[in-house]
Amino acid sequence: MARPKIALIGAGQIGGTLAHLAALKELGDVVLFDITEGIPQGKALDIAESGPSEKFDATMVGTNDYADIAGADVCIVTAGVPRKPGMSRDDLLGINLKVMKSVGEGIRDNAPDAFVICITNPLDAMVWALREFSGLPHNKVCGMAGVLDSARFRHFLADEFNVSMKDVTAFVLGGHGDTMVPLARYSTVGGIPLPDLVKMGWTTQEKLDGIIQRTRDGGAEIVGLLKTGSAFYAPATSAIEMAEAYLKDQKRLLPCAAYCDGEFGLKGMYVGVPTVIGAGGIERIVEISMSKDEQAMFDNSVDAVKGLVTACKGIDESLA
Ligand code: APR
Repeated sequence: MARPKIALIGAGQIGGTLAHLAALKELGDVVLFDITEGIPQGKALDIAESGPSEKFDATMVGTNDYADIAGADVCIVTAGVPRKPGMSRDDLLGINLKVMKSVGEGIRDNAPDAFVICITNPLDAMVWALREFSGLPHNKVCGMAGVLDSARFRHFLADEFNVSMKDVTAFVLGGHGDTMVPLARYSTVGGIPLPDLVKMGWTTQEKLDGIIQRTRDGGAEIVGLLKTGSAFYAPATSAIEMAEAYLKDQKRLLPCAAYCDGEFGLKGMYVGVPTVIGAGGIERIVEISMSKDEQAMFDNSVDAVKGLVTACKGIDESLA
C-alpha cells in the first residue's frame, strides 16, 4: 500500500518541525508548501538529508505550487503571520483571513479528501474560516489547540507533583486564548482528580490556581522568552498526535477545536471540546457535564470566539 501523503501548508517554524516529526515517526511522505520561494525546498532537502542517519522511509518535497499537494491524506495549516508590535487583533485577523482564503481554495481544489488540521491563530476563528473557504465536510476540518493547552497543563502538573507526565491527564476546553477553560475536575494523576489531590495535601488550591493561570498564559510565556517568535516544538507535536490518530484510526479522545452544531448548546461554530479522532476525522464530540462555574467560564470563552467570527464576517462579506 502506498504511504500516506501529508501536506504542510506553511513551512515556517511549526511547518518545518511538523515535517521533521512526520518523517521521524514515518507517518507518510511529506510535502512542504509555502509562498516564500526556497524555504520549503531548503527545509525539505535538509530534513531528507537527516534520513540516512535516522533511517526513515519518507520522501520530502518542498514546493510553491498547490498542485504538489494533490491527493493529500492530511493537511496541516500553519500559513499566516504572527502578531507584530503595533498590530491590532483585527489587523492580524484581516491578514490571516486572506491567507485562509487562499489556503482553503488550494485544499478544496487539490486535496478535497484530506483531514485538515488548522494551527494558524486566532485559531477558533481561522479554522472556521478555513472550513468555509474550503467547503470540506465539517468533520474533516478541525483546529489544534486543546492538545497543546492540555500538554502544557500536564507538564506543569507533573512538575508540581514530581510524577511522570505519562500518568497525568488534563482537560482544557473553550477557545484558544486568555479565556480557555482548564478543567481541574476532569484532570487527574493516575486517575485521582486534582481537587482530591488538593484534599490529600499534594498541593494547595492556591498553587493549582497558579498552574491554571500559567496554562492560560502558556503561549505568551514562550513569546516573552523567545522574543522573535512563538512556540513551535509543542504545537507541532500536538498536531502530529492528532494526524497520527486520524491516519492510524486510533480513536483517541483529544480536545480540539471542532464544529459544534447542537453539541454543548452551540449552533454552527468551532470551539475547543473533547472529541474522538479516528479514520472518520472528528468522529464524535464528547458532551461532558460542567458545573455552574465551569459553564460560566466556557460561555465566556465561547463569546470571545463569537466576537472573532463576527469580526471575520465584517472583513470578508462572502463569509457573512
Ligand atoms: N500561503 C502559504 N504560506 C504562507 C502564506 C500563504 N498565503 N502566508 C504566509 N505563509 C507562510 C510564511 O511564508 C511562513 O513561512 O507561513 C509561514 C508561517 O511561519 P512562521 O512565521 O514561522 O510561523 P509559525 O511559528 O510556524 O506559526 C504559524 O501558527 O501558532 C500559530 O500563531 C501562530 O499563526 C501562527 C502559525
